[in-house]
Amino acid sequence: MGIARVAILISGRGSNMQSLVRAAENPDYPAQIVGVITNKPSAEGLKFAAANKIATAVFQMKNYANKDETDAAISAQLTSWQVDMICLAGFMRVFSASFANQWSGKLINIHPSLLPKYKGLDTHSRALAAGDTEHGCTVHHVIPSLDDGSPIAQTRVPVLPNDTAQTLAARVLIEEHKLYPLALSKLLTQKH
Ligand code: GRF
Repeated sequence: MGIARVAILISGRGSNMQSLVRAAENPDYPAQIVGVITNKPSAEGLKFAAANKIATAVFQMKNYANKDETDAAISAQLTSWQVDMICLAGFMRVFSASFANQWSGKLINIHPSLLPKYKGLDTHSRALAAGDTEHGCTVHHVIPSLDDGSPIAQTRVPVLPNDTAQTLAARVLIEEHKLYPLALSKLLTQKH
C-alpha cells in the first residue's frame, strides 16, 4: 500500500489535528489526511480543516436514535472516505464497543498522561495532586475500555516545582504535537 488514508476526529481546538495535517504535507510522510469528523459543530478545529481544504463532517448524537446509530453513521462516513487509519485527537466521546471492534487496529488516540496512569479526564491536576515528578503523553490503540489499548509511543516531561495544571498541560501539549505524527508514521511504516 502507498500513502495511508487517515481521518481525524476532534471535538474542540484541534491543535493535534493541525500537527498531523502539517506533518502530512511533507511528501515523504506515509499518510494523507482525507477528512475531519467532529461531534461538535462549534469545534474550533473545523475552521483550520476547511481552510486547508480537508473534507469535514459533523455527527451529533441528538440527530440519531442512539449511540449505536450515531457510531454507524460515523463508520459509514469513514468507509466512504476509504480510510486506512483513524486518529482521535481530543474527540470527547466514548465509542460503542461495536465501533471500536469494527475499526480495531486502525483506531488510535492521543492521551495526555503516561498511560496506564490517569485514564480519563483531568490528567494534569491528578498528576500534580499525586506529587508525580514526571508526566507526559501517550499515543495508544483504542479498544472498547477507555484509554486502555496498547501503547504505541510515549513522551515524558518533568513536573516543575511551581507547575499548575495549565503550565503542565502546556508543556505536555508541545510534546503531543511531536509525538502524534511520529507515532502514526511509526505505526504505518510497521504495517505496510
Ligand atoms: C489533548 O491534550 C489530547 O491529548 C486530549 O485532548 C486534548 C486535545 O487538544 N485527548 P487539541 O484539540 O488537539 O488541541
